[in-house]
Amino acid sequence: MGAGGSGGGGRAARALRLLLLIVFALAAVEYLFGSILDASPLRTYLYQPIYNATLPTIRSREKLAASWPKRVPTTTDLTQNPEVKNSTNITNPILNSNITQIPLANMTGAVMLENTTSLMVTKIIDSIRNQSTTENSDIKRNETELPMCFDEVPGDFGPVPVNKTEVELDWVEKLYPEIQLGGMYTPPNCTARHKVAIIIPFRDRQQHLAVFLRHMHPFLMMQQVEYGIFVVEQAGNSEFNRAKLMNVGFVESQKLKAGGWQCFIFHDIDLLPLDLRNMYSCPRQPRHMSASIDKFHFKLPYEDIFGGVSAMTLEQFTKVNGFSNKYWGWGGEDDDMFYRLKKVGYHIARYKMSIARYAMLDHKKSTANPKRYQLLSQTSKVFQKDGLSTLQYQVVKVTLNHLYTHILANIDEPS
Ligand code: BGC
Repeated sequence: MGAGGSGGGGRAARALRLLLLIVFALAAVEYLFGSILDASPLRTYLYQPIYNATLPTIRSREKLAASWPKRVPTTTDLTQNPEVKNSTNITNPILNSNITQIPLANMTGAVMLENTTSLMVTKIIDSIRNQSTTENSDIKRNETELPMCFDEVPGDFGPVPVNKTEVELDWVEKLYPEIQLGGMYTPPNCTARHKVAIIIPFRDRQQHLAVFLRHMHPFLMMQQVEYGIFVVEQAGNSEFNRAKLMNVGFVESQKLKAGGWQCFIFHDIDLLPLDLRNMYSCPRQPRHMSASIDKFHFKLPYEDIFGGVSAMTLEQFTKVNGFSNKYWGWGGEDDDMFYRLKKVGYHIARYKMSIARYAMLDHKKSTANPKRYQLLSQTSKVFQKDGLSTLQYQVVKVTLNHLYTHILANIDEPS
């Protein structure tokens, strides 16, 4: 029995050794030929974490795009089509300059919005509209000659990979020569259905900027939206005020667009969309876009959440008087917006969780604002007296970089 037991033990040990050998051999093959067997099931089994930001976990029916669909229009497309080349020149007369700094004399100055929300905001937008009808009639003619861009999301849109590796901004610039100065883009071969300003509140996240732009430009170009990327940086050392920066981004981006933007997407710089079906447009109801984030295990943290990435039309945003200006420090400002929207009768739209997926870039957590609950308890009573109607700030500098417009603003409360 003793001999039989040791014989059985020997067999088991041999089998175990053989199994280990096979596993090591497979791992070695995967290691050596990993780049060849790029999407191999072996890689998936050996290395896929429970939730993987780089390669989103997907339902079995959904196909994972091995790479980006090859449809982003290139500069060659632009130069080969003389009609399109014309329209590009008209829409962006400064296309060929490297960096434009709008003269400080034009851009600097305290902005005090009048008491009635719509008054000042409407003034800004009206003036831009007038400007566009008088100066840009050629664009209108060209736009009408082009077919409309897609309405139904194309069938091959689905999950896209994310690359979190840090890169240099000038390297990313070389990837996208078709982007116009200030991070603006107009689809060259069709008339966009959506004119979208992407507003990014910003401070001390230089390492995320290039990663964000490398991901977002091809993503938005694929979606055939007309867009501009506006990075609004807080000057000085006061507590970060995300909501106030977004109000500034709203007003300033509107000034910089002939005809004005119709849709505003307020976007944290550390969130990267993982699915092309997540359209960067504004539906009839405000949309909470980043419902399904890897850091939260692709689950909605709570039903009323409106943070991260959210989309509102011009009308929706002005109707609620924009964001509050009073949230200094982390948290609450997005909940405040949720209450505003509810109060005026909107409900929040969301894509399904398999589409509203985002990867979050790593960063340190900021200190929470202890006053946020007190502020939130007042929102529905005071929101018409706190927001765009009371916004005060100074633009320190506006720079049109190749891949984004940089708005540096002093948003400190006047003493
Ligand atoms: C904060 C929000 C934040 C959310 C998710 C809430 O407690 O008030 O501002 O977006 O947590 O982190």
